Amino acid sequence: MTKTVNVAIMGIGTVGGGTYEILTENREFMLRTQGIDFRVKKVLDKDLERIRSFGIPESAAASSVDEIAADKDISIVVETMGGVEPAKTFIEKVLLSGKSVVTANKELVSKHWPALEAAAKKGGAGLYFEASCVGGVPIIRALQEGLQANHINSIVGIINGTTNYILTKMTEEGMGYHDALKEAQQLGYAEFNPTADVEGFDAAYKLSILASLAFHTCVPYQTIYREGITKISKADIKTGLELGYRIKLLAIGKRRGDVIEARVHPTFVPASHPLAGVGGSFNAVYVNGDFVDDLMFYGRGAGARPTGSAIVSDVVYAAKAAAPLYSDFVNDGKVADGIEITGDFSSKYYLAVSVKDVPGVLAAVAGVFAKHNVGIESVSQRSGGSGAVIVFLTHTALESDVKASVTDIEQLDDTNKVESLIRVLA
Ligand code: NDP
Ligand code: HSE
Repeated sequence: MTKTVNVAIMGIGTVGGGTYEILTENREFMLRTQGIDFRVKKVLDKDLERIRSFGIPESAAASSVDEIAADKDISIVVETMGGVEPAKTFIEKVLLSGKSVVTANKELVSKHWPALEAAAKKGGAGLYFEASCVGGVPIIRALQEGLQANHINSIVGIINGTTNYILTKMTEEGMGYHDALKEAQQLGYAEFNPTADVEGFDAAYKLSILASLAFHTCVPYQTIYREGITKISKADIKTGLELGYRIKLLAIGKRRGDVIEARVHPTFVPASHPLAGVGGSFNAVYVNGDFVDDLMFYGRGAGARPTGSAIVSDVVYAAKAAAPLYSDFVNDGKVADGIEITGDFSSKYYLAVSVKDVPGVLAAVAGVFAKHNVGIESVSQRSGGSGAVIVFLTHTALESDVKASVTDIEQLDDTNKVESLIRVLA
């Protein structure tokens, strides 16, 4: 039997527009395959012209969120405005009115998930956010409904399309950072304020959501170690290529027993690793579970149509679910009792140290590494200004030991500074 489901969209920009296009272009298809006639009944946006540009009749333009909350025919509301406020207030309002919410807003979910979920439960509504992480790739559904049988050991992902686009352009075409960022903005990948992308906040928000789902405890975004891509130099990219590495902004979550590590930083990925080949705005998440072993999810991590696809998948889910799906852990915004989130992880490291080109300097730096239990795997040298740059690749070492080494190296007589410290995926 055919069912009609009325939907509202709040924010008809890149993602809201993609969502509208799918719901209208594929309306007949979904009626046939899902047995549901999805109709976009109301659209809320600051700009009436933008609403009109999609061919949406003016009569469908909502004057306020209250109009949507009060409309008894609407059962699902899509939030694609972005930002924390007024999105949080709007979402809580419609959840409390009993309508399910589908959102792409990772910043909001990572910062206020407990409050949103509480409002959803109070209103007897669902809260769905597949589109918040990894664009069109159904990673949240995979974690919640495909991998429940597993203890997830690790999630390692390229989960920001903008930075992957920039790093790919810099690596493959020698493009400058600012030109590549501009292109990513024009293509609709970047956040309203691209600092969120390039400084790793966006990836940290997403990792907070994914790690919480994977490890069944809140992993607050504030506990995630974060470094962006703005300090990556063309020289490092070139040296990395010579050493067999591709530079990627990785989000890494690992759980061993009761200890979790969660970090976002630029990483040299061996060219043979599947993540090394993930280019442009594409994203990928490499998951390891105790029974399923390794899995890789790959696809477009940003853009109107891929993200719209994830939104509409949640819309269909919300329309069909017998009961809303809530988190399967205590979602109070705190790390569960007995679980530790550590900042002292271990990794291999690439360090580029600028030095005076004098005898004995290499031995002095090597001595510092030895003092801090950091083993050296290889050493090479490139010219750098008036002196030289020595590039060290270390064996696996503790972050704290490498950081202590950096402090001591910079105090040596014949060194200038540690120009780059890039973690290497082992
Ligand atoms: P856009 O800026 O393209 O679209 C947002 C739209 O919402 C704009 O039309 C904006 O109007 C409107 N809007 C903002 N605030 C209000 C308000 N208070 N009342 C009414 N309308 C409002 O953003 P995106 O589509 O790129 O992103 C939307 C969300 O999706 C964000 O949370 C983002 O993080 C997330 N996301 C984005 C992806 C992408 O590829 N772009 C992918 C995955 C998730 P105005 O421009 O005038 O402010
Ligand atoms: N700005 C985000 C990105 C959009 O570049 O990945 C997708 O979440």
